Amino acid sequence: MSGKGQTILVTGGAGYIGALTVLELLNVDFEVVVIDNLSNAYQASSQQKPECLLRVEELTKKHVAFHSVDITNKEELNSVFQKYKFDNVIHFAALKAVGESVAKPLDYYKVNVTGTILLLEVMREHGVYRMIYSSSATVYGLPDKLPLTEESRTGNCTNPYGKSKYMVEQILQDLCFSNKAWSITSLRYFNPVGAHASGNIGEDPNGVPNNLMPYIAQVAVGKREKLSVYGKDYDTPDGTGVRDYIHVTDLAVGHLQAIFHQKPSGFQIYNLGTGRGYSVLEVIEAFKAASGKDIPYEIVDRRPGDIATSYADASRANKELAWHASRNIDDMCKDTWRWQQKNPDGYKNSSSVICPGACSLDSKKRAV
Ligand code: UD1
Repeated sequence: MSGKGQTILVTGGAGYIGALTVLELLNVDFEVVVIDNLSNAYQASSQQKPECLLRVEELTKKHVAFHSVDITNKEELNSVFQKYKFDNVIHFAALKAVGESVAKPLDYYKVNVTGTILLLEVMREHGVYRMIYSSSATVYGLPDKLPLTEESRTGNCTNPYGKSKYMVEQILQDLCFSNKAWSITSLRYFNPVGAHASGNIGEDPNGVPNNLMPYIAQVAVGKREKLSVYGKDYDTPDGTGVRDYIHVTDLAVGHLQAIFHQKPSGFQIYNLGTGRGYSVLEVIEAFKAASGKDIPYEIVDRRPGDIATSYADASRANKELAWHASRNIDDMCKDTWRWQQKNPDGYKNSSSVICPGACSLDSKKRAV
């Protein structure tokens, strides 16, 4: 399917999942406009766009428009909507660190909840009524029953980040109920990992990674001494936590399918996962096999707020969006490893990374 003739606004499009989704949108000929406040994206002072979007342009040979806009600034949002006519909005812009959300709840509610409300107001003022919302399996909290379906109980979240995602889903549902013009799709991601197959676009965590896969990758590349495995006394086959890891490219494609199969009206929810869980020890083994590196680890106490097991029933997305996760744990580890090796410092110090030596697309010549 083609996106020709459609213009999509991607908020938070300079983030990990956002940039990979922009790449897939461009590949099928959507026009893409990104807004991002660069709170978690690298942009060199000599460049006019974040590094990840320059790389997206190099890989796709297509142009992406970029505006430095803060989602909580209604005037800035308004000026972007005055400049373009959008057919749809994919809304990624949010804060996402669970621990930080406990320490700074107001920041999380302001950006994730108030920011979304302001965006929706501006959309309505400009007659744009379609949105794909970036939600999370975190809205399920402690599962009653597995696998998790879209009908599973939600709202039992233990931290402000999770609560903010849950609250926004409630707001979106009420909004769609209030006016049939709205069509909003909420995608509940399980555990996104991996990188673009080129190794040029991936996750660039600020400081010490909170999540398992980027931490393992940094141990493998020698940046960190060993992994702490949070608990080996869970009620799982090997005692470590089990999660449904999903390749970020499969996830990105899920957004395209959500646009292509969007209903004319109403609020829809889809799980995006593989439907299969892997334990922490299984992920370590898979990464060792993919990288050929040893991953030293020690078992430590459980991390507060963690659950034993989480995995998706993704059959609704399979059926209604014609979407399946096609990449397996080996692909996830290999692509993470390629990205980590090519970009040991993330996007910083990067102009030599894509094409070392004589390069026809150095940073000065890149299209901006
Ligand atoms: C976390 C967030 C979740 C968010 C998701 C995004 C928490 C409690 N939850 O999910 O809200 O939507 O990231 O991807 O932070 N582990 C280790 N050692 C580590 C890191 C993790 O053993 O250094 C274990 C965890 O205990 C868990 C598994 O690895 O069993 C996955 O952890 P992680 O990658 O942080 O994801 P989640 O906690 O599932």
